[in-house]
Amino acid sequence: MLVSPSILAAPLTRLGETLQQLKKPEIDFIHLDIMDGHFVPALTFGEQVAEAVKRETPIPLDVHLMVEHPEKEVPKYFALEPHNITFHYEAAKAPIRLAETIRKAGIKAGLALKPSTPVDILEDLYPYFDLFLFMTVEPGYYGQPFLQNSWHRLARFAEIRQRCAEQSDHEVILEVDGGVTEKNIARLAEAGVDMVVAGAFIFKAEDPNLQAEILKQAAHSL
Ligand code: DX5
Ligand code: ZN
Repeated sequence: MLVSPSILAAPLTRLGETLQQLKKPEIDFIHLDIMDGHFVPALTFGEQVAEAVKRETPIPLDVHLMVEHPEKEVPKYFALEPHNITFHYEAAKAPIRLAETIRKAGIKAGLALKPSTPVDILEDLYPYFDLFLFMTVEPGYYGQPFLQNSWHRLARFAEIRQRCAEQSDHEVILEVDGGVTEKNIARLAEAGVDMVVAGAFIFKAEDPNLQAEILKQAAHSL
């Protein structure tokens, strides 16, 4: 299980030292929650803070754009050379074209879905993306409880993934974001999840690396 801590839940006034503390192999990615105050009520940070984060850590970046007009925002993150740039289906006018733009920049294209967006749309979009991010809380804030409708959504995705995988060998990462803890991670692993975001679970405790280790061990406990 890949673990991508969301720095939204980190002590933001001590972000530099917190980032330096994060170590592989426990921490696989650093999840950056970019919120514009329109697509979601909250406003966080943009590409300049993202660049500052990159300077503090060699760990690859997982960019999650919760913004309107992602076609305007996405190119601002190319210079960052993140592992992936993920934008929201609900905000995108032409998601396939935007995925192609991201891939042409040599970056993995990710598509995020809010908890009420039908999973079936992924059947048509599957070949164009390298990563699908399922929101398991309404986007906007860290520390919210995991939504139980996520289980049947993940089961639906597993069917689509199996069908699409029969037609092509292109690899996709299934990422889950919101309310992940050591209590639900084993079931998430069983549901086919490859990567989890964790905010409160990682940062509202003493040692973020240990928290990530706890998640990884719990993922294999079923
Ligand atoms: C919510 C963000 C999440 C959030 C996760 O809108 O996209 O990445 O920070 O935090 P937890 O793990 O605390 O739900
Ligand atoms: Zn996120």
